[in-house]
Amino acid sequence: MKRFIEQLPKAELHLHIEGTLEPDFLLEKAKKHRIQLPFHSIAEIQHAYNFSNLQSFLDIYYQGMAVLKDEDDFAELAWRYFQKAHAQGVLHAEIFFDPQAHIERGITISTVLDGLCKAVERAKKELQLSVFLIPCFLRHLSEDSALDTFAQCLKFKQVITGFGLDSSEVGNPPSKFQKVFTQAKQQGFRITAHAGEEGPPSFIEDSLDLLQAERIDHGVRCLEDEKLIKRLVREKIPLTVCPLSNLKLKVVNHLQEHPLKRMLDCGIIASINSDDPAYFGGYIADNFDACATALNLTNKDSALAAKNSFIGSFLDANTKAAYLAKLKSYCDNNEVELG
Ligand code: ADE
Ligand code: ZN
Repeated sequence: MKRFIEQLPKAELHLHIEGTLEPDFLLEKAKKHRIQLPFHSIAEIQHAYNFSNLQSFLDIYYQGMAVLKDEDDFAELAWRYFQKAHAQGVLHAEIFFDPQAHIERGITISTVLDGLCKAVERAKKELQLSVFLIPCFLRHLSEDSALDTFAQCLKFKQVITGFGLDSSEVGNPPSKFQKVFTQAKQQGFRITAHAGEEGPPSFIEDSLDLLQAERIDHGVRCLEDEKLIKRLVREKIPLTVCPLSNLKLKVVNHLQEHPLKRMLDCGIIASINSDDPAYFGGYIADNFDACATALNLTNKDSALAAKNSFIGSFLDANTKAAYLAKLKSYCDNNEVELG
């Protein structure tokens, strides 16, 4: 990997902590909790990670989570991710988790959040990494389930930055979740939503208009709608793009066809993120690196994606400015122009 990319100061804005469950950790936790898995070795697991679309991935992803049962499991999972992110130049991470996928299995939100918060505190102290937590509602479940989950999350308001929307996009439009996001907004939470990954560009617009989303996760299908592109640029809506995820889930057939470079060139605030790195073959800097190769990104392009990651974050203006100053000085030292 290019040294410039690995040490480039960046924020990760699109990362599902359950998607960092590496095969060795999965097997270790299955043994600890005496859980039968359909796989018996790392090779068998890796063989199963051959996806044809989003749903084929989600089926395996929800199955894997069954090994996460106690506070220590969540703390260890997050700590492992924070160490990797830190080693790949991440200064700030806004991480998703799926409370409903755990509640459904009898694991309380308090178990999940106590574990995650333990790791967040350690990351702050030992790695100087700042972390925000963003629970996502599962769009394949009902809005009543999301409303119930939201009510449970309110008890932990002080450690939650915002809410997101993930899982099976096609057939589950943003309009299904208007009520719960209205409540989240009223309570002062930040809002983001997966849209335009497999779903149509209209889901991006509806996420902005009906859910009051401030940024969009994926959003790659926006390029199919010229008017929408203009709106995203004009309203400075950040898109958290995940190139290796898009490749693995066949949103694009080849990385060389990925729209990231076009998005950057037309002025969209696109950042580069890893989504579910244990399943998609790479963490954040691996995504930067793969794009640099496949799309002929210059260091200036990579630096712009890093700049967009801080701009698109939910950090306050002063902290954002401090991170952007760090990025600028890194670029100056490497004689790279920061666009
Ligand atoms: N949950 C985890 N990864 C996801 C993705 N890429 N799209 C939708 N839901 C997800
Ligand atoms: Zn995602």
